[in-house]
Amino acid sequence: MNYEQALEKCKKYGQEHVFKYYDELSEEEKKGLLDQIEITDFEILDSVHHRDELAGKGVISPLTCMEIPEIEANAAEFEKCGLDAIKAGKVAAVLLAGGMGTRLGSDNPKGMYNVGKTRKLYIFECLINNLLDVTNKAGCPVHLFVMTSEKNNDATVSFLKEHSFFGYPGEFVHFFKQDMAAATDYEGKVYMEEKGRISTSPNGNGGWFASLDKAGLLDKVHEWGIEWMNVFAVDNVLQRIADPVFVGATISKKCTVGAKVVKKAARDEKVGAICLEDGKPSIVEYYEMTDELMDAKNEKGEPAYNFGVILNYLFYVPELERIVREELPLHIVEKKIPYIDEAGNPVKPEEPNGFKFENLVLDMIHKMDSCLPFEVVREKEFAPIKNKTGVDSVESARALLEKNGVTL
Ligand code: UTP
Repeated sequence: MNYEQALEKCKKYGQEHVFKYYDELSEEEKKGLLDQIEITDFEILDSVHHRDELAGKGVISPLTCMEIPEIEANAAEFEKCGLDAIKAGKVAAVLLAGGMGTRLGSDNPKGMYNVGKTRKLYIFECLINNLLDVTNKAGCPVHLFVMTSEKNNDATVSFLKEHSFFGYPGEFVHFFKQDMAAATDYEGKVYMEEKGRISTSPNGNGGWFASLDKAGLLDKVHEWGIEWMNVFAVDNVLQRIADPVFVGATISKKCTVGAKVVKKAARDEKVGAICLEDGKPSIVEYYEMTDELMDAKNEKGEPAYNFGVILNYLFYVPELERIVREELPLHIVEKKIPYIDEAGNPVKPEEPNGFKFENLVLDMIHKMDSCLPFEVVREKEFAPIKNKTGVDSVESARALLEKNGVTL
């Protein structure tokens, strides 16, 4: 794209301020900016002016979960079915590690955070240890795909290599990068992170399968005969990955997606609740929960929307391929966005100063015909690290790790 075309594109979307420092840039930087303008989707940015319209939900009704007593009663059968699938190479794991972890506030990728006290124990290490429990039991590794972003890919790859993948076989680990989206101020004007570069942010975890495909890895998924992909977040240090009981239960119930859920700690806890929306599986976000939904009861007289998702899903690959080109809803999220000020100096804001634009993996659930919500014991499998202290923090996760016998 040449200068005139780029200027025209920016003018169309009211973003011509990106050229403010153009004359000061080197030829290489100029080209970099023009290339960035070419690939940037400015159209989505206008949605900051229509935020209310984006939130629409259909008719919500309860979706029955498989609860712990039922799981325990069938655990041996489910586990055998899951282990058979793992041994046959049909199960892979997908680590979503493209996020910025702004709430934790570390400059490094979140997985590099050390949760140890008397020794080093990194978040990535905890996750690999959890996966090794399963692969040791199965007697074979599973393919582990790791999604990074342009912002943290190099650091993630070199850290894991330096640590020899914490004992996981390196030839079974495959990295791919997700896409980025421009980040804006509250008026929808893009920020500049450098004089020749628009501020960007990873575009959410919802594009993971499309990005894996774009990276050429879907061919490998076919070649290796992978049928199920267990997607999980980087920040839950206790979660079981490629959990054979969960895999077996989802397969046995003939569902196209399984979702690990926990009983909510409070009716207004900040987790998305699994439900049906217009008769299809869905997740109602905590900020969408009305009093009516919080107080609703199911036929057993229990709270109807009492199970929260923990970002650990098992997807059936043919279904992922069916939906890969379908659009997902856009989420506009308030964030701290680094930028350069009027004088061209870099600023790292302490408070949110604008929006980033994301697609979310939870919206993929609504595109599936059948979902098995699978209850896990909260204290054993849910220790998310979002903040340094307080709720869902390094502190709370450390306490839970110790409770589960992990030496820190
Ligand atoms: P979060 O919703 O906690 O977002 O991600 P975040 O960006 O990591 O953290 P904050 O909000 O800035 O503090 C949940 C999971 O989804 C991944 C994260 O790495 C984490 O595993 N994720 C999030 C991506 O892979 N890509 C994204 O664009 C966003």
